[in-house]
Order: sequence, then C-alpha cells, then structure tokens
Amino acid sequence: MKIVLAYSGGLDTSVAIKWLKEKYNSEVVTLTLEVGQGEKDLKAIEEKAKKIGAVKTYSIDAREEFVEDYVFPAIKANALYEGKYPVSTAIARPLIAKWMVAIAEKEGADAVAHGSTGKGNDQVRFDVSVMALNPLLKIVAPMREWKLTRDDSIEYAKKHGIPVPATKKSPYSTDENLWGRSCEAGILENPMNEPKEEAYGWTTAPEAAPDKAQYVTIDFEKGVPVKLDGKKMGGVELITRLNKIGGTHGIGRIDMIEDRLVGIKSREVYECPAADILLTAHKELERLVLTREENLFKEMIDAKWAQMAYFGLWYEPLKKDLDAFIEKTQEVVTGTVKIKLYKGKAAVAGRSSPKSLYDEGLATYNKSDKFDHRQAEGFIKIWGLPSMIAGKRK
Ligand code: ARG
Repeated sequence: MKIVLAYSGGLDTSVAIKWLKEKYNSEVVTLTLEVGQGEKDLKAIEEKAKKIGAVKTYSIDAREEFVEDYVFPAIKANALYEGKYPVSTAIARPLIAKWMVAIAEKEGADAVAHGSTGKGNDQVRFDVSVMALNPLLKIVAPMREWKLTRDDSIEYAKKHGIPVPATKKSPYSTDENLWGRSCEAGILENPMNEPKEEAYGWTTAPEAAPDKAQYVTIDFEKGVPVKLDGKKMGGVELITRLNKIGGTHGIGRIDMIEDRLVGIKSREVYECPAADILLTAHKELERLVLTREENLFKEMIDAKWAQMAYFGLWYEPLKKDLDAFIEKTQEVVTGTVKIKLYKGKAAVAGRSSPKSLYDEGLATYNKSDKFDHRQAEGFIKIWGLPSMIAGKRK
C-alpha cells in the first residue's frame, strides 16, 4: 500500500507519517504546499519527513496558482461566508486536495491522507474534493480515526524518535495562507472573552496603529486587481504587500461566531488585511459599473458561492455554473478604487471607471440636472398601483 500525505511539517502530520506506516503497513509519500504561510523552509520540511520515514517527498510553491485560481475567483464573488469570513482557509483546501490527487496518480498510490480532525470543516473539504477528483482513491485521516490529544501526540512522537518542537506551543489552533490567518481554540472558546493581543499574528491593534491615515489605490481589470498605487504587479506580490500595509493599520481583524458544516457553532478570529481591502474595493467598483438588477441579483449568487466554497463543494458542478455567471459580470469590472486605511478600518475614499454607469447629470441636485422630474409622477402612479388597490380593499 502507498499513501500520499498532505504534510505541514508540524507535530500532528509528523506523527501521522509513522502511524500510517505502522497501521497500514504502507509506504508514505509526503506533499507540502506553500500557499503563503509565511517563512516556510520547504527543503527542511522535506528533510524532516525523510528522517521520520517518508519514502519520497514533494514540496511545491503553489502561491501563484492559489492566487489566480482560488483567490481571484473569491474576489470576483465578493466571497464572505455568513457575511464576514473571507473563506481564506476554506479555499486553500481544494487546491491542496488537487495536488494530493495529482501526486497520488503520479505515484500510483492507493490512498491520500490529511491531518484534519473529525470536528472541523477542513476534513469535509479535503474528502469531498478528493472524492470529486478521483473517486477511486481511499482517504485516510489519522487524527480523525485515532482521536489523539496533543499530549498523546507528544508521547507517541517521543517514543518513535520524532522531533517535538521545543517551543511551547501556542494555546491556539491557527492556519495561514495569503488570503488570511485563522485562529481558534484556547480562551477564544468562551465567546464572551475578548481576544488577547497574543491571538493576533499579522496585525497591529487598531488603537496602536499610526495616527496618520494611509491611502492605497487598487486598479482592477475585469474583476482582478492588477495594480497597487499605480504600479503593475502580480497577484502574489500585490496581496503580500496589502497584508503588510493593512496589518500595520490594524485592518482586517474579524471576530465571529460561525456555523460549521458539521453543525457546531464555533468562535473564530481571523486576520485578513488584504482580503478586507480588496473585497471592499472590488465590491465598490461593482456598484459603479453593474446595473441595479445585476448588483441585486449578484448578491444572492455571491452568497451562494461563498457557502459552496465554505462547505467544501469547490468541485461540485453548480459551483462552476456560478463561476460562469460571475465571470460574465466581470467583463466591465475595470477601474480604480482609492481606499483609506485608518486604525482598523479600510474605507472607500473614491472610485472611477471607464465603464462607469454613474451619470452626474442625472444624479446632481444643482441646475445642470438632466433628470425629468415630471416623469416620476406617472411612473410612481403605476409602480404603486398594486399597493393602492390593496390599500382600498381595507
Ligand atoms: N473555521 C475556519 C474554516 O472552517 C478556519 C479553520 C482553520 N483551521 C485551523 N486549524 N485553525 O474555514
């Protein structure tokens, strides 16, 4: 038997290498993906996996693919689960699953494995994505099957000569990629506890942020951010920079109660500076260039898109249908948005577009007004007719 394991280099997945070998008598191939978790020494992680007993190791810098095929669609969909969470952890899972399947097929493996527990959304996202991409592959989740506590893991690691990180583990469970940082557990489990500063890793507290506001301008082309402050750059660089700039100003902190797919309500703390800035800017540009009908209808499609991404249905056919609709709307989403960053808030300060539908002549309250006020009267009579008839019945 041969298993491809999604390997982060952390304690749990390190223990999993040994455990999969023992329990399934299998060869373990590890796969590590760089999606912007910060300084990640991929070579060192591969070395570690080999030392613990992996027969073969892969590591891939997938940041560009992540941004282009997962983050950009999320921007076009203004994706916020339950109106708040930019689905940052969620959208990296189908990418990791895609690579797990690709390596499993290349290696002729029988199964893939991941380190998710049985309580969260991530197990669903991994499993459902793998099921959709290659229904023949078995899926093994050691942490779910085995239900290890942290202490069990440490004990198992010590017994098997697996290096245990010397640093005291953070009291939180975290996950990071270019689109955001997730933090949960520990004292955050009491929803009334305000997160302590130690829960945050990317952002300055708004009250400690600079007293002077900073402006950034983002240029979009067909829904995709292509320039920052007038300078053309790739998505990875643009997002990395916005996370830095936004983080300095305390932008993108989110504290929420969230409805998990497995039925549990959980308290989550996110930091998503670039996502906050780009989603705010993109949405504002859409307000300028899409018609009223498009804007109102797209809100529903966007909400559904975010749910599907969150629920692990990335490869479900309906998700592609929604993408087709969204992609069509983005044809005119080209223009510039100016955002003001100040003490935790990313606020729109201006917007312009060659595709703008805004007509100052129609909007103005001064003399140059082109809007025919008399027409409003007849329009309202007919528009209000059903209400009037119903009113008379009383
Ligand atoms: N609740 C979020 C989600 O389901 C984040 C999960 C993050 N994982 C973690 N180990 N903290 O997308």
